[in-house]
This record gives sequence, structure tokens and C-alpha cells, in this order.
Amino acid sequence: MKVLVHIDDAEQWRDALAERLPEAEVFTSSAPAGQRREADYLAVWKPSAELLGEPERLKGIVNLGAGVDALLNNPGLPKNVPIVKLRDAGMAELIGDYVRYGILHFQRDFDRYRRQQARRDWHEHAVVDKADWPVGVLGLGAIGARVAAMVAADGFPVHGWSRSPKSLDGITCHHGDEGLDELLGQVRSLVLLLPDTSATRHIIDEDALAQLPEGASLINPGRGTLIDEAALLDALGPDREGEGDTGSRLRGALLDAFPQEPLPDESPLWSHPRVWITPHMAGPTPLGEALDQVAEALRAFEASEALDTVDPEAGY
Ligand code: GLV
Repeated sequence: MKVLVHIDDAEQWRDALAERLPEAEVFTSSAPAGQRREADYLAVWKPSAELLGEPERLKGIVNLGAGVDALLNNPGLPKNVPIVKLRDAGMAELIGDYVRYGILHFQRDFDRYRRQQARRDWHEHAVVDKADWPVGVLGLGAIGARVAAMVAADGFPVHGWSRSPKSLDGITCHHGDEGLDELLGQVRSLVLLLPDTSATRHIIDEDALAQLPEGASLINPGRGTLIDEAALLDALGPDREGEGDTGSRLRGALLDAFPQEPLPDESPLWSHPRVWITPHMAGPTPLGEALDQVAEALRAFEASEALDTVDPEAGY
């Protein structure tokens, strides 16, 4: 089989994949056009439309990330070619740490202490028990389910939400529109791990934010399109360092993903005192586990084995 790899550091991926698949011919997108046309499989992250259109007898695509939104929205994506994506592949553990940091940031009042520091204000806040700090996780796919379990293991009550019913040990699971309202009404930190689809776009809008308890916090290591930014800014309140903790319904937001990345210079989020920005770093893909999954998927494609493929209609 002939496999074309396209991602940052493609040479490193190519060499490591070739080691795992000695039977395959593995090359990158800088190979000559004739070789690219002959690729049986693409293993890609954010390829150009042109590259997607080049192979003449494409049998399958492996998305080298968990989110398939960029691929499914690519105008060059050939029809009816099965797609598999990375599932967890070590990302969930890293995203789980990011989320745990975010929850503790608010639960242990680091946001308030930073504001106090600016005015040399030395006073301590009583710690809210973890048991009284319910956390909501929207999205219970491979990553969301693992993150929910990590947060629950830390001692926080965890509510999970998915479009269709799920049942997970130690997690209070909700589903559907009603389930979303139930969850939003009771969580002090809300974590977004949904895919970007037409059904999830702006799922966190004015209405959703209004349902959160006063002083809730938002943590988004998922996709930027899940949040209506105007509604978020409104819920966060004035863009100035307040004297105290009043004046905002939403206590703060830790954001890793944005509709446009890099986040544009002119975005008001950059300088908002209740917003913490990270540059889409919550879940980098660890090479080793990802490559094992890619090799396994390519072997299964070749052997015509049943694969857990992406549903382009659902968008994940
Ligand atoms: C990163 O955002 C991914 O989807 O893997």
C-alpha cells in the first residue's frame, strides 16, 4: 500500500509510520506529483484542497487528529472515501490535565487572588468543597468520557452530556435538549469537548449562558465554534479589571480553541481580565500512540476489516 502523509513534521511521521508498516511505501506531500497521484491512503492533518484531490484511486483517509471539522469542511474532500480519525491516542490524558488545572484555578480562587494581588490585598477565601462544585462535561466521546472520569476521580461530582443517551460509571449522564438544560442549571464549571458540527455550533449562546448558576466558569479545550463569542463577552461583563467579584455573571473563561486560529490581534478576548487564553495546546497528539492507531487503521483498511469510520452527516 502507498501512504501519503501530510502534517507539520511530516518526515518524522513518515519515518515512524514506515517502521510500523514495513510492507507499505510511505511518503510525504513533498514527493513528486506522480507518486502523490498513486497514493492508496492519505494520513493527513489539515491538507489543502488540491492535495486531497490528487490521488486517483484513494481507498481511505486517516485524520491525524480527533476533530474532523477541518477535513469535512474541505472543498477538496473526495466523496465516498471512508475516513477514520484518531480516538483519544493519548490526547485525552493531556486534555484532562488541562481541564483539572482549569477547574482548580476557579475552585481554589486563583482568579480572585490574581485580582487581589494587583491591589496588594491579603485576604483568604474559604475553600468550597469539591463535593459542592459540580462540573459539567459536554461531549462524551473518547476524549470527553476520559476527561469526565479524571475529574470524577479528583472528587468532583461530574455531569456529562451527549446528544444520545450514554451511561458511564461514576458520571451523571444527561442527553438531548432537556438534558442539556438540566446540566447547565447546576454546574459551577462547564467543560466543552464537543465536535464542531452544524448541531453544536454556538451551543453555548446567550440562553445557555443564562442557565448557568451565577459565578460559573467555562473551560473550552474543544472547538471555538461551540461558543457565541458576543454572548460570552456579555456574560463576562465589563472589559476592565473590577475592584471585586461583582459585575459579571460568568466568573471567568479558560479558552484553548477559537473559530479563527491564531486568535486575531484585535479580538477583545486577548485583554479581557476574566479570560485566560492558551494557543490550542490542551491536547497535542502524542506521536507514538497516534502512529499505532494509524498503522492499525491502514492495516484494517487493506484487509477490508470493519472500521469505526467517521459519519460525514453527523460530523464526527
Ligand atoms: C485537535 O484539535 C484535534 O482535533 O486533534
